[in-house]
Amino acid sequence: MGWEVFPLAIRRIVNGNHAILRSHARPVQKINDAIITLLDDMAETMYENKGVGLAAPQIGIAKRLIVVDPGEDRLIKLINPRCLEWEGETVDVEGCLSIPGIYGEVPRASRVLVEALDTRGKQLRLEAEGFLARILQHEIDHLDGILFLDRAIRLVDPEEEKKEEGS
Ligand code: NI
Repeated sequence: MGWEVFPLAIRRIVNGNHAILRSHARPVQKINDAIITLLDDMAETMYENKGVGLAAPQIGIAKRLIVVDPGEDRLIKLINPRCLEWEGETVDVEGCLSIPGIYGEVPRASRVLVEALDTRGKQLRLEAEGFLARILQHEIDHLDGILFLDRAIRLVDPEEEKKEEGS
């Protein structure tokens, strides 16, 4: 009877004490509708929380999936992402949607080469620098149970910083 609507779902973000944030996420073996929907929900959840990136463990799912959007609606969905190359070093302030209200200066490679599958299962390589490179490293860390606080060299008062992007 009638039609059904399947709205995108905003998922609940788990907080910094949750064990899943400290576990290794499993590679995705098969890209099916459930995975596509999950990526869509992750993007929706990221935007709802005004983040620039989100990893599946942050919504309680131990799969190697991330979404990132460095701005200008440039949404990137990656399946089984991994860094192949790191180059340079840069320090900047990071936050995390799983650790609200805390910010720290984190050294990251200034340029990375990331390999992943896209939503059609096609292998892609993404060369990124600057802010996008930082977000990718932060999100891929989430897949290995690493939080930005593990790498932070100094915590900063959010009041003193204009940057408050969470990922
Ligand atoms: Ni994060």
